[in-house]
Amino acid sequence: MTVQSTLNDSIMAALGLPIGTTLDRFIKRQQSQYPSAVGDFSQLIRDIALASKIVNREINRAGLSGLAGMAGSTNVQGEMQQKLDLSAHIRFLRALNNGGEVAAIVSEEEEEIIHTDHPEGKYVVALDPLDGSSNFDTNVSVGTIFSIYRRTSMIGTAPTAADFLQGGRRQVAAGYVLYGPSTMLVFTTGNGVNGFTYDPSLGEFMLSHPQIQCPAQGSVYSCNDGYVDAYDESVRHYLTRCREQGCSARYIGAFVADFHRNLLKGGLYMYPGTQQQPDGKIRLLYEAFPMAWLAEQASGLAVANTKAILDVTPRGLHARTPIFAGSAQMVTDVLNATNPKNANSLSSQSVLQHSSVTVAK
Ligand code: AHG
Ligand code: MN
Ligand code: MN
Repeated sequence: MTVQSTLNDSIMAALGLPIGTTLDRFIKRQQSQYPSAVGDFSQLIRDIALASKIVNREINRAGLSGLAGMAGSTNVQGEMQQKLDLSAHIRFLRALNNGGEVAAIVSEEEEEIIHTDHPEGKYVVALDPLDGSSNFDTNVSVGTIFSIYRRTSMIGTAPTAADFLQGGRRQVAAGYVLYGPSTMLVFTTGNGVNGFTYDPSLGEFMLSHPQIQCPAQGSVYSCNDGYVDAYDESVRHYLTRCREQGCSARYIGAFVADFHRNLLKGGLYMYPGTQQQPDGKIRLLYEAFPMAWLAEQASGLAVANTKAILDVTPRGLHARTPIFAGSAQMVTDVLNATNPKNANSLSSQSVLQHSSVTVAK
């Protein structure tokens, strides 16, 4: 650029990096590729970004403002709610309601569909307002996960469960916010995965990780070691082989943080089913579907026991699913290890059509 040539090097060094791309600019560019778009989808992404900035602020100050600790209530799954679970839930609800593009929301923190004041909204959103919240009181990373669908019910009426149970491949956008050493928004609209880092001094998310690609192979596996004895023998054998091949374990216990590390560096996240909990723990609508789409969009994979997570039929708003997600080769290996007799037929499944991976015979 010509400005640069007129300034000497020391001034350029003092000025630092070029200004970069804000989330807003990125969204506008994306929108301009769809001449018929009227901008409400773009506004919806902005609303999510705004809510995440407020949640970020509250997380940063929670130890000082009385927002740390348990709320004394339980959610639909019987899990203890933290105060920040509820405040994040309320922040996202308000931001999405104010925007007017969303007609209804499903949240981990509420059993029923939440209807906004905007039945004219075209979209519905499934939300894990605060993921990994048990980490929070010890100042470890947490996240938010979201999944957006265009509603199928008639605009102007109240959305129904069917709007949320369309299936993972019908998502129009999905992503997460990671509240870590820096705060990041990572999302897809079906054209790859882009990551934005929050600059608190500007109050802006800046494009920092364009077109993220998950390495096909990693050297990290992420699971709760305390439950390994309850896993199926085939999964335990796979883990033993991983260790023999020099893999390390990395498990934060916040899906967003574990998934993000493996997405960038390569690795496998797993929360398998057990005899006692055949569907594991991870919720399909607002944890597994959005992360599975991100994985596939970044050339990774995400499977349940035998099929792509995105092909799992959701049977309820808060249904759970076993999950193996991350580097394509590692997911394929665990799939082969746990389904040895089906290895050939698995290669024809859509999970593998979405990557260049072929299941070993
Ligand atoms: P949430 O805090 O939204 O309920 O989600 C917690 C999930 C997920 O973030 C994490 O990977 C998993 O629970 C950890 O579970 P375990 O403590 O059973 O390992
Ligand atoms: Mn969660
Ligand atoms: Mn949560």
